[in-house]
Amino acid sequence: MTQDELKTLVGQAALHYVVPGEIVGVGTGSTVNKFIEALAGMRDQIPGAVSSSQASTERLQALGIRVFDANEVGELAVYIDGADEIDGRGFMIKGGGAALTREKIVAAQSRKFICIADESKRVEVLGRFPVPVEVIPMAARQVGRRFAALGGQAQLRMKDGQPLVTDNGQHILDVSGLQVRDPLAFESEVNQWPGVVTVGIFAHQKASVCLLGTARGVETLAY
Ligand code: A5P
Repeated sequence: MTQDELKTLVGQAALHYVVPGEIVGVGTGSTVNKFIEALAGMRDQIPGAVSSSQASTERLQALGIRVFDANEVGELAVYIDGADEIDGRGFMIKGGGAALTREKIVAAQSRKFICIADESKRVEVLGRFPVPVEVIPMAARQVGRRFAALGGQAQLRMKDGQPLVTDNGQHILDVSGLQVRDPLAFESEVNQWPGVVTVGIFAHQKASVCLLGTARGVETLAY
């Protein structure tokens, strides 16, 4: 199976976790796009969704799924999203699509995080994928120097020759060269550096379940 077919498979498998009658939290990325397509078939069974990005909002609305503001609703039963890496404990790197801050907000509002991913995302130690960090622009260099002291190399994410601007009006640093062996401690530490909006380590908001697309079919990993 191709990677795209694996993404379709896990996107469809995630429908099983959508609770009829309840608003669902929806992430961002190419795997979630497959889930959104599948969710269209259930649109009459749910009031709608809380979305983690402008891009997902547009896709949901185009398929006739109502999108609620996170402040309009209470706790959500489930949040469904992809990952750039996931380890054996359900800790993840996220933010390859620059939506990490809103993803973490919606994940924190949800009882369960269902991660949908193909098996290329499964790692032993987080850090092969550069860790995305959303920063206030004036702090970018300072935060970059702090990562250098930890052995990382921070690079400002660019788009069309300009620094990429997130849905929140901020910038992204992609930090390579790290091996994140204690994701809980790493997330807590980096989150309190001045100018950091969100670090793309999801340890405090880890996955409850991962639906992993493999050549043998969908494996369900619970943490
Ligand atoms: C978006 O900001 C990310 O956190 C995505 O969830 C992550 O990059 C996975 O995306 P794909 O499903 O496109 O690999």
